Amino acid sequence: MIPLRLQEISRATGGRLVDGADPERYVDGPVVLDSRLAAAGSLFVAVAGEHADGHDFAAAAVDAGAVAFLGTRQVGVPGVVVDDAAIALGAVATAVLRRLPATRVIGVTGSAGKTSTKDLLGAVFATAGPTVAPAGNLNNEFGLPLTVTTAQPDTETIVLEYGARGIGHIRYLTTVAPPHIGVVLNVGTAHLGEFGSREKVAQAKGELVEALDAGGAAILNADDPLVAAMAARTQASVVTFGVAETADVRVGELTTDDAARPRFVVTTPKGRAAVALSLHGAHHAHNAAAAIAAGLAAGLDLDAMVEAVEAAIARSPHRMHVRERDDGVIVIDDAYNASPDSMLAGLRALLKMKTHGRRWAVLGAMRELGAETERAHREIGIHAAKLGVDRLVIVGADASPIADGAAAAAGWSGEVTTVADADAAAVLVAAELLDGDVVFVKASNSERLWRVADRLVQG
Ligand SMILES: Nc1ncnc2c1ncn2[C@@H]1O[C@H](COP(=O)(O)OP(=O)(O)OP(=O)(O)O)[C@@H](O)[C@H]1O
Ligand SMILES: [Mg+2]
Repeated sequence: MIPLRLQEISRATGGRLVDGADPERYVDGPVVLDSRLAAAGSLFVAVAGEHADGHDFAAAAVDAGAVAFLGTRQVGVPGVVVDDAAIALGAVATAVLRRLPATRVIGVTGSAGKTSTKDLLGAVFATAGPTVAPAGNLNNEFGLPLTVTTAQPDTETIVLEYGARGIGHIRYLTTVAPPHIGVVLNVGTAHLGEFGSREKVAQAKGELVEALDAGGAAILNADDPLVAAMAARTQASVVTFGVAETADVRVGELTTDDAARPRFVVTTPKGRAAVALSLHGAHHAHNAAAAIAAGLAAGLDLDAMVEAVEAAIARSPHRMHVRERDDGVIVIDDAYNASPDSMLAGLRALLKMKTHGRRWAVLGAMRELGAETERAHREIGIHAAKLGVDRLVIVGADASPIADGAAAAAGWSGEVTTVADADAAAVLVAAELLDGDVVFVKASNSERLWRVADRLVQG
């Protein structure tokens, strides 16, 4: 972290220095939530989690070099005691940003594709100068401020993912890190259980662009009416992206190659360019267009951005990660998470993969869909059958409506099997795979279905 004195941290957080915490000492190492990652100069944030209480590890963090811990009670080692560690961590991030007045913050939100697009934005903005956009899914009240604390004095751009499980979550995150440019990808069905309706999802996602000031830019999906309508909710200038004729950054002539990698022509106010992505799945054309639109709003060079998005590969794990075995079998690990929209996007990509073999989909449960759960699973089964998946392997009882949907789809000549767990799925598929088969693996994160993909690749 850029150096901050403990005194400054206690002032920013409204906390109390305890047990010998020296107000003049600098925190200049990494801010960490995991005491095992503490190093010289660290600040250890102690959080009471489901399984463990971080306060129990504060002493270990200090032993490892942490200057202090940030937590809610004294534990006998130097610390900053606050009412709420997450809010305090947010305040530390805000203090860091105040010391980096020239650094621009790019925010991205949406129902699907935030992390993928954050990685593309990272590649785009890195063409212009030092950029912070760490791999992974750091989109909540801990991950977002932690990302901010990794900024260096020379950081020009910080790309942040703003996640939401309810109204007001993104608004809070924008108070921690006010964005200069805000990208809204889509309003889908992810986390519908918590929100209740897509309109509520739109209300929540739009909080990102409400936080922009008049000098900022809102990057909105022209193809998604609920996103396009957010133009009315921002003071910032609006740049739209998508396949719509009206889009400022327009995706045209979209096709995919034999490995389902998008090829398209992007037309922008600054010119046109042919784009051939290394990422798999047509949906990444939208994500790339969003990243380019954000870059254009910041005055970046179109050709350099196109080169950057073309070179970008899947950086955050389990997102359309395509591996080919020696025998030609292709395994697509998209098991980081799943919602109906991303399931469909992934299945479409599977069908775009050119193969002389069969197309398999190993699918597990989609979580957090509330009252829509059963219907959403059934519909995925129907889609999988209609798209023409050859073999469906459905993992776990909660996912079984997918099998029902597929089985009921008219005219499908494929086959569906339901298995109890990931192990059983891996055993079944491994035994039956033939040269040239393509296997797509996806479920919500909690199912950890990437184990199937790993087993198939590693044997
Ligand atoms: N524009 C898109 N439309 C639909 N699906 C997408 C899109 N972009 C990515 N996906 C798919 O959605 C899934 C999740 O992608 P990613 O992790 O980038 O999204 P996220 O919004 O960060 O998710 P989370 O809410 O878990 O943070 C992946 O399977 C990915 O391939
Ligand atoms: Mg994410």
